[in-house]
Amino acid sequence: MDSPFRGRSFTVIDDFSLDERLYLFEKTKELKKAITENNLDALEKFRINDSDFGVYEVFIEDSTRTKESFKNAAAFHKVKLNQLEADYSSINKSESFADTFNTLCGYDNLIFIVRSRQEGLCRWLEENGKLYAQRNKMKQIPAFINAGDGRHEHPTQELLDEFTFLEKLSWNREQIHIALVGDLFHGRTIHSKAEGLLIFKKVNVDLIAPPELAMPEYYINKMKKNGFEIRIFDSIDNYIDSNDTAPMWYFTRPQLERMGDAILKRQEELRYKITFRKEFLDKIPEGTIFYHPLPRHKLHPTIPTFLDTTPLNGWENQSANGKLIRIILLGLIAGKTGADFKGITKGSTETPDATDFIKEAPVKGDQMRKDYAEGVKPISSGLVIDHICRGEKEEDIRDHLARMIRVLDLYGKGGEWISRSRTEPDKMKGIIFRPGYTEPGIKKLKQIAALAPGCTINVITDKKVVKKLKLTMPPKIYNFPNICCKNSDCICHSSQGENVPAEFIRITDDKFKCKYCEKTHSFKEIWI
Ligand code: CP
Repeated sequence: MDSPFRGRSFTVIDDFSLDERLYLFEKTKELKKAITENNLDALEKFRINDSDFGVYEVFIEDSTRTKESFKNAAAFHKVKLNQLEADYSSINKSESFADTFNTLCGYDNLIFIVRSRQEGLCRWLEENGKLYAQRNKMKQIPAFINAGDGRHEHPTQELLDEFTFLEKLSWNREQIHIALVGDLFHGRTIHSKAEGLLIFKKVNVDLIAPPELAMPEYYINKMKKNGFEIRIFDSIDNYIDSNDTAPMWYFTRPQLERMGDAILKRQEELRYKITFRKEFLDKIPEGTIFYHPLPRHKLHPTIPTFLDTTPLNGWENQSANGKLIRIILLGLIAGKTGADFKGITKGSTETPDATDFIKEAPVKGDQMRKDYAEGVKPISSGLVIDHICRGEKEEDIRDHLARMIRVLDLYGKGGEWISRSRTEPDKMKGIIFRPGYTEPGIKKLKQIAALAPGCTINVITDKKVVKKLKLTMPPKIYNFPNICCKNSDCICHSSQGENVPAEFIRITDDKFKCKYCEKTHSFKEIWI
């Protein structure tokens, strides 16, 4: 039987189901045991052992651990490893990522390990690689492993972190209590924890960072949605004062250089709040252990080097586990390991398209009322879009009407106004009427639904409402020229110049996430 992991990209931690991650940890445990026991036969079973199997490292940002552990993992597998010299590549001649990776795919490479500043790059490469493989009739589609993308995610680090936590907890998945300390705002290894810690049945997370470095709302909400119990502290001092600290602390490096001069001027004060000090040692319970994805800053380490020789040092074993996890990951994606996997696999990451956000409503009696508000004369033929932004403030409704007219290109005859809802007089709503307009096609209706969820479209002919459509929020917004992710580091942002079409997936009633960088947007923010 073939491995369900073969050819899969791993762009965010959630690309592998919980069962798949646990299987990966089980195999890593077996590998570690075989190495410890020097069991050569057992080790051989994990090896790809194919000198033509192409693995490519493309690191456009600096790295020691991730890059070198994958390199060592590839050496274990006896495969062909190449490393793009990004500083001397045609990326510097404004070549697109799509063209760069298509070129490397053409040289018989099947797994790409990519670190970039651009967020969501691997998701885009995965899509682009499938099309390239189809066009060029490749036997296997190329897979892309995210080795860290901007502030977004670092999923292979998450795998090795979870494996290390499980080892420490003797493989007991009932509960974890962990403190996340440091730069929670930029720390992509921290962001991956919102999903990664789900391997534990009960999760208590203490977030320790000054407000300037606090966890982004998207990840806090994700943790809450996943049932995590969260406590927030603005410094280690305050955390220790709570007299209830976690047995595991996970530190990260502050990335203050990304935050401008105002923050840099206060760097000492901010670092102080998230740096462990000698005086704390007798205030934390015995058995506490510290982790860190590393690197540490040589002048300002948040875990001071005097702790290296103490039992608090969990970060060296954590780092060494990185190579083992990555050996197994390469073996899974190459199809060498995984045929005996029995759990639930991750389904497609594609959100199904749907049209149930357009519902036809019954047209009742004489729909052309005589008492239209504010003296607007009813139109005899055309469209009336009603119930726009119902319940919002008048100035917000007016702004949104202007946005709708701009996006939908509704310039010309007709009008728009704000009036009181008849059924709920304490609520205001917007109305746009356009004489001469006919019933919009499905694409336009989808656009209107995504711009004015909850609105009603009245199609009027000969002074009668002949059709009434109620629109609700669609599950996806894509394929429109005037949508854009607001994150300038996202691969689909226009400033990246990569021509990646923006796409948004609904996560709650009126909130969407960018398909690539996963930044949350309100439905209004999506439109240019
Ligand atoms: N933990 C980690 O990603 O380290 P590197 O930046 O050295 O790869």
